[in-house]
Amino acid sequence: MQPESSAIRVSKKSSFLYIVAGISALGGLLFGYDTGVISGALLFIKNDFHLTTFLQEIVVSFLLIGAVIGATLGGIPADRIGRRATIIMSAILFIVGAIGTALAPNVAWLLVGRIVVGIAVGVASFVTPLYISEVSPPQIRGALVSLNQLAITVGIVVSYLVDYALAGIEGWRWMLGLAAVPAAILAVGMWFMPNSPRWLVSYNRTFQARIVLQRIRGTEDVDQEIQDIHESLVEKHSKNWSELLNPSIRPALIVGVGLAAFQQLTGINTVIYYAPTIFQMAGFKSAGVSILATVGVGIVNVLMTLVAIWLIDRVGRRALLLYGIIGMVIGLGTLGLAFQLSALAGALGWIAAGSLMLYIGSFAVSLGPVFWLLVSEIYPLRVRGLGMSAASMVNWGTNLVVALTFLTLIDIVGRPGTFWLYAFVGIGAWIFTYFVVPETKGRTLEDIEADFYGTGKPNPLN
Ligand code: BGC
Repeated sequence: MQPESSAIRVSKKSSFLYIVAGISALGGLLFGYDTGVISGALLFIKNDFHLTTFLQEIVVSFLLIGAVIGATLGGIPADRIGRRATIIMSAILFIVGAIGTALAPNVAWLLVGRIVVGIAVGVASFVTPLYISEVSPPQIRGALVSLNQLAITVGIVVSYLVDYALAGIEGWRWMLGLAAVPAAILAVGMWFMPNSPRWLVSYNRTFQARIVLQRIRGTEDVDQEIQDIHESLVEKHSKNWSELLNPSIRPALIVGVGLAAFQQLTGINTVIYYAPTIFQMAGFKSAGVSILATVGVGIVNVLMTLVAIWLIDRVGRRALLLYGIIGMVIGLGTLGLAFQLSALAGALGWIAAGSLMLYIGSFAVSLGPVFWLLVSEIYPLRVRGLGMSAASMVNWGTNLVVALTFLTLIDIVGRPGTFWLYAFVGIGAWIFTYFVVPETKGRTLEDIEADFYGTGKPNPLN
């Protein structure tokens, strides 16, 4: 049986859709750049402002605190003023934060700037995939939304390279300030992009929604899609958070919040933020080699995200998650083992590097892109902004917890124990996926909504 979403037509010539996805994915680039850039910049900020270890941790974690705030508050404008306007708002915050931190005369100023950048990251992290998901036709929605994850990974590598290039002149102000350039392109670019057609219909602006759909689908024939969106809107917009606890929304909430926590509690950002430290622990004594190995990790992250983009609409979200998480668990398990067996001493560095590559590559085809994609798909339209906001808030909150506890955990349970703990959480993530995560490949957002809430035709892909 064919998924009925194949009824949605997309003209092969509709390059406009790719422009829309490409411009908005700059939000992902900024997410990656701003989270990655601090590792290199901190070395020089520390000297200029005479920061203690504690203050360094505060400088790093203030972005994450800002992101929790942004993710929490961003759902309201996303639903009220729209996805496009909210992305423009976040781009302005990115510009203010980048310039503000670059000019910071003291630590207090820097910390305020970090919070502002963090709020922008928190908002962009979920409104970008939400917007792309709502403009995409179902057949390629997975690939288009995952462009955002690709942009995150590219942003991380670019930030490592910028740090490396500017290290010679100790240019931390440039490292932080350069983010204003893509942010300005995002603000101006989004100005020319259309509103999400689904958001427009939800505010009874069907006429405009039809024009947008005709433009992004490259065909006049959009009646069926408009009608499907209308039918999914049996109830009006939700105004408050309590709606998310409604029993009918709960299954989606559990999937979103669960995947959000598993994405972080399996330790991804210990690698993104501390890779050079892990390589040094494993015996790569030179800082240069460790940084080079870290760039290697970043590149594997980008390349495997490309593989995910190729596979995600072919094999589906569940298959990627189930196979990828197994790779992550094996990577973490061998990393722990390498640290445990001191007999491996000489080979330790190489085994650690191999395990980290396996781990990051497996994350990049699974929990990395699939989490952000699924949360853009599973909530009903009337609470989509709030639902994504809740999942993102948990994602940034657990990110903060892992970042703050990683080095302490190593002190308490040791290196093998720490990585095995993440591996153990990974096993939980696999079981969770197996039992509760739905397949959404090839379905329209309206069909997914109907599946979840029991009113639709059965999912032919289940
Ligand atoms: C995660 C980030 C992570 C990045 C790494 C994203 O999906 O949300 O926390 O740093 O992937 O590529």
